[in-house]
Amino acid sequence: MKSYWIKVYGCQMNERDGEIIAGLLEEAGYYKAPAMEEADVIVLHTCCVREKAENKVYGRLGQLARLKSKKPDLVIAVGGCMTQQPGAAEKMREKAPHVDLIYGTHNLHELPQLLKKVEEERRPVAVIWEKEGPVVEGLPLRRAHGAKALVTISYGCNNFCTYCIVPYVRGRERSRRPEDIIEEIKALVADGVLEVMLLGQNVNSYGKDLEDGVDFGNLLERVNAIPGLQRIRYMTSHPRDFTLKLVETISRLDKVCEHVHLPVQAGSNRVLELMNRGYTREYYLELVKTLRQYIPGISITTDLIVGFPGETEDDFQDTLDLVEQVQFDNAFTFMFSPRKGTVAATLPGQLPLEVKKERLYRLMEVQNRISRVKNEALVGQELEVLVEGPSETDPEKLSGRTRTNKLVIFPGPEDLVGKLVKVKITQAQTFLLKGEVAS
Ligand code: SAM
Ligand code: SF4
Ligand code: F3S
Repeated sequence: MKSYWIKVYGCQMNERDGEIIAGLLEEAGYYKAPAMEEADVIVLHTCCVREKAENKVYGRLGQLARLKSKKPDLVIAVGGCMTQQPGAAEKMREKAPHVDLIYGTHNLHELPQLLKKVEEERRPVAVIWEKEGPVVEGLPLRRAHGAKALVTISYGCNNFCTYCIVPYVRGRERSRRPEDIIEEIKALVADGVLEVMLLGQNVNSYGKDLEDGVDFGNLLERVNAIPGLQRIRYMTSHPRDFTLKLVETISRLDKVCEHVHLPVQAGSNRVLELMNRGYTREYYLELVKTLRQYIPGISITTDLIVGFPGETEDDFQDTLDLVEQVQFDNAFTFMFSPRKGTVAATLPGQLPLEVKKERLYRLMEVQNRISRVKNEALVGQELEVLVEGPSETDPEKLSGRTRTNKLVIFPGPEDLVGKLVKVKITQAQTFLLKGEVAS
């Protein structure tokens, strides 16, 4: 029997792909290696959303070249978003000739056959489908988490935000049929899952490509009705497609958690338009107001990009001002990274790294202060936490998340893992809360 090791880069979509790759390999007779160095097959499932993500993969491939020189039978497979870009496979062939198999985003399910081909023919193989095929259902899956599960509801994206590579490497939006999603979640619940995260690049446009008129609100209603399921999360929500009807639906579904990840990207209308986001700052602020009115206590997180081509200091001030006005619970902040093939990579006014860095730093300073104040307001409260396991930073303690997606660390016995417990918050930091099990 041969063993495998998978390293996943990028977003939750990729994390979920990683679970499918593990499932496919186990079905084909492989077992999970105890460490990367001991594996017979190493799979890097990559991301290319920013240049940094690609550099990480090449860094790891350098390390694997040394490992392979000691273990010539090692098979290295690289695939996912990075290799799906035009010309990427050729570049990888040149820069990393020790890679045995290159696959794309659309042919994951072929991985076992492709690995067999590599082993039989003893030569490198590259198979990348240029275009997405129909949604493939029924793939095996080896889930990484116990009581929490990722469930993809749609693949790809139709939005073409001008900075973003995702629509090019993940193809057009394809929704899974609601029946398939419900079946999958029922099976997960039977397997002990309490919380599902519904995944899509834009969950709010779920169902637009299906014929039965189902939309994201209908899907949430059906998932909410599954007995035994306790919590429903969803991401990512595109502000443009977040209708009042959907806000109302969410507000009355008891299992849908009080958290929304609502990327705004920028606070300047001029930049939002250049980004092709399809909304204004005024619209966004109004949406935030509505969400807070209908769903009291909702936590709102976002993504922000600084240094978009042509972004002036005034534009950037608009972003800072929006961040102050909204008071996000947390924000993922990025420096604009030009991606080949996207519109923004060719726009005039590309900014020097120094300017981007300095703006990122100022933005993070503002947001970190807000995150801390928001967390401090929770001290003294008793919050429901789904216990995930030992804390990564403090393995003596347990960690889990509140319905509002706040990370909580607290002492407690291991048999709480996988359960919902009430935790009294005793201390707040910028990125986490500390507490004790409420008696
Ligand atoms: N579909 C989601 C959305 O609409 O927000 C997530 C897309 S992407 C996987 C996650 C985040 O990466 C985006 O929200 C954006 O802030 C950031 N991002 C995408 N392309 C980028 C680029 N070229 N440079 C910097 N950040 C980028
Ligand atoms: Fe990229 Fe925009 Fe699609 Fe999100 S909505 S994946 S940012 S193109
Ligand atoms: Fe995700 Fe990166 Fe691909 S963010 S969709 S893995 S480009």
